[in-house]
Formats: sequence, structure tokens, C-alpha cells
Amino acid sequence: MVVAIDGPAGAGKSSIAERCSAELGFTYLNSGAIYRAVTWKALELGVQDAPDERIVEIAQSLQLQYQGGKLLVDGEPRGDQLHTDRVDRHVARHSAIPAVREMVNRRLRQIADGVNVMVEGRDITTVVFPNADVKIYLDASVETRARRRWEQQRAQASENGGREDDTPTLEQIAERIRERDEADRKKAAGSLKQAADAVYLDTSLLTIDEVCERVIATIRNTRQYQELQS
Ligand code: DC
Repeated sequence: MVVAIDGPAGAGKSSIAERCSAELGFTYLNSGAIYRAVTWKALELGVQDAPDERIVEIAQSLQLQYQGGKLLVDGEPRGDQLHTDRVDRHVARHSAIPAVREMVNRRLRQIADGVNVMVEGRDITTVVFPNADVKIYLDASVETRARRRWEQQRAQASENGGREDDTPTLEQIAERIRERDEADRKKAAGSLKQAADAVYLDTSLLTIDEVCERVIATIRNTRQYQELQS
């Protein structure tokens, strides 16, 4: 069974998909992490500004494995290395390259073959799994998404012994989110849009628990899920 989730950056897709998939015993696939892995590798090799063909070569040669629900990139779980400012800065361009998207989509379909998966990203409900059993579009206002990111960065800074005041301001974060939304929506291939048959959920005024409850109820209500249980 395939549950596909799309939505803009910061709508809560990763937290929700991680938690709901664990509760249902599904494999969680984060497509953004694969795009980030391509950019991470390009940065490692110092070729992040190289022409598209070189980035495509990197994407094709990257070793990706899914083990126990964890993505291994060149044999290691790269975790935080995929979420640096440098990766953020280059991943929009790299993920807009059609041949890179084809590689990522192929890998996602291979990993999902024959297992129950919850996959999240920008074009999962429209391009990667247009026949998904459940489609969800998670949304939230720019202000909410900026505030969540701001709180997260301040918490991280104080955890790491840094100064909270050194983190970007709420307005700077909101501006970056607007730029990312714009980049996601105007991609020639795989742009962010809501599928006509997706369930729309605005998470602005909901807690993670409340969103999870609704997502899980939507899945449990489907014939496909009920058949899996019988
Ligand atoms: O969700 P994220 O911020 O980790 O995604 C990283 C980048 O990859 C971001 O620029 C959007 C892009 N992306 C995409 O183009 N298509 C997807 N299905 C998932 C992510």
C-alpha cells in the first residue's frame, strides 16, 4: 500500500510521516533526503556549481540504500549532513534537473515495490505515485512555518551551546520560505501542486498529534488498509 504526502517546506511532512508510518508499521520514505544526498555528494566533490550533466552523473553514481527504514548514502546514515545551510543553498537547483528527478523517482518506486510505504515530498501524489492508495496534501501558512523553523533553530542553537541571537530572525526565515515556495512551484518538472484527489489538511492550528490522528484515520478508513488487516 502506498500513502503519498506532498506539501510545501515546513508544513510538517517529515514529522508527520515519520510518526504515522511508525504507528502503522509502514516504511517511511523522505524523497527530499535523496535530493539532499545528491547535493551533499556534489559538495563533497566540490562540483556543486558544475553543469547539469555532472550533477546527473553524481546522482547516478550515488550509492543509496534503505536499511531498517534509514537512508544510507555511500554506506552511512548522513543525517545532519544533509540539512546544512550549504545543502539548502544548492539543492533547489540540483533537484530541478529532470534527469536527477528521474533517478530519484526510479529509486523511490524500487524501494516501495511490494512494501507498505509512506512517501513524502513535492510531487509524490502527482508524478511519482499518481495511483497512490491515499494522497494527502499538508499545508500551513508562511507565518506558521517560519515560526516553527525559528523555534527549532533557536532550540538547536541553545542545545549546541550557541547563542539564540545568532540564528536568523523570524522575518529572514519567512523570506527564505517564500523563496523556496516560489522555487518549488515554478520547477519545470515535478513542481509542487495539490492533486485533485488529495485530502487537504492545513496544519497551521493543529498539533503534530492532531495531524497524525487525522492522517491515520484517513488511512484506516480506506478499503486498501482494511484489506491489509484481514
Ligand atoms: O523536503 P526537503 O526540504 O528536504 O527537500 C529538499 C529539496 O528537494 C527542496 O529543494 C525541494 C526538493 N524536493 C523536490 O523537488 N521534490 C520532492 N519530491 C522532494 C523534495
